[in-house]
Amino acid sequence: MTRRAVVLVAPLALLAAPVLFAERPPPVPADTLPKTLSPDAVPLGLDPRPAAPDAPLTAARVALGRRLFFDPILSADNTVACASCHRPEHGFSGGGARPRGVGGRTGARRAPTLFNRAYGTAFFWDGRAATLEEQALQPIENPDEMASSVAAAVGRLRADAAYKDLFASAFDDGVTAGNLARAIASFERVLLRGDSPVDRFRQRGERTALTSSELHGLWLYEGKGQCWRCHTGTNFTDEGFHNTGVSWGKSPEDAGRHAVTRQEADRGKYKTPTLRGVRLTAPYMHDGSLKTLEDVIEFYDRGCVANPNLDPAIRPLKLTPDERRDLVAFLKSL
Ligand code: HEC
Ligand code: HEC
Repeated sequence: MTRRAVVLVAPLALLAAPVLFAERPPPVPADTLPKTLSPDAVPLGLDPRPAAPDAPLTAARVALGRRLFFDPILSADNTVACASCHRPEHGFSGGGARPRGVGGRTGARRAPTLFNRAYGTAFFWDGRAATLEEQALQPIENPDEMASSVAAAVGRLRADAAYKDLFASAFDDGVTAGNLARAIASFERVLLRGDSPVDRFRQRGERTALTSSELHGLWLYEGKGQCWRCHTGTNFTDEGFHNTGVSWGKSPEDAGRHAVTRQEADRGKYKTPTLRGVRLTAPYMHDGSLKTLEDVIEFYDRGCVANPNLDPAIRPLKLTPDERRDLVAFLKSL
């Protein structure tokens, strides 16, 4: 072996080591949803579902998107599906602070819930995608997620007889990148969560739907806690961006919304997440840094993390231990 070859081989072995020993992505979870998902039903307490940008929601599209969502065929090495990181048993969130993509690679943020994304107006924690259709193709190309390309994924689907048929019955023009995005987004648009005790209390006046602790929590949510100022409306989010200082000062820096707008005032702002199904979606915040809902309430109670961009709606709450407990009880009832 020449000297030059030896010099080249050593660093290559070092580079390979982390790949060989990296944790593998978890197995794709089973689809445990009800057998048929209605493209029309909207649960109690939610607003009418906004229409998809360019395509009616049909049962065939929802069923196709559902199959794609649970199928690792979209990833480079057939190991990772959307459902690997958006797990049904965790309310379609990651279930861990750092989801694992192809080769066990991890990104910088936590995978949020996909409940009620039909009402979303911007996607990702920083809002860099404008529609579910635009969002849906990005994980396929993200090297930390599915590490493939849209063209390659479309090629694999075209070569699969079952998918060719399913696309042909759902769309006039068969397997295309646009239809792949439309099918996945159609499935996401039916992942609606409502009809909670809070909805039965508010919409139907069922006085016994909430326990006295949950009811007191609702009162605190709308009063002393001021939670409604950002987590507002029937989906408990304003779909806006706010700074609560979650990862402020940590390195490497995550600039949040600033990465999209380049406005200094947007540094450290993140999208307000829905609180629907929040008892299933731990750990919390864009970086998964708060493990439990008790931790979240403590975080708000002390006034979050002080920083120059902290949202004016945030201030220390001075909650009593009973108040903290009841706020958590209310959140769990959503
Ligand atoms: C390896 C893990 C991983 C895989 C695989 C993955 N995601 Fe995600 N997903 C994430 C993370 C992490 C975020 C948040 C990233 C960010 O905000 O920068 C996210 C964000 C999203 C969002 C935005 C939700 C919101 O409220 O803004 C949607 C929608 C979504 N993913 C759908 C999908 C779909 C559809 C697929 C499959 C095509 C998929 N994801 C595959 C990890 C993953
Ligand atoms: C100024 C706006 C604002 C107010 C007021 C506010 N929140 Fe939030 N909330 C946010 C934002 C933004 C995030 C995401 C922050 C991040 O990930 O960095 C968030 C995250 C959360 C999460 C984590 C959800 C998840 O999926 O990770 C919970 C739970 C929560 N808030 C509950 C509350 C409660 C309870 C109150 C009242 C005590 C409250 N919030 C008040 C804006 C607000």
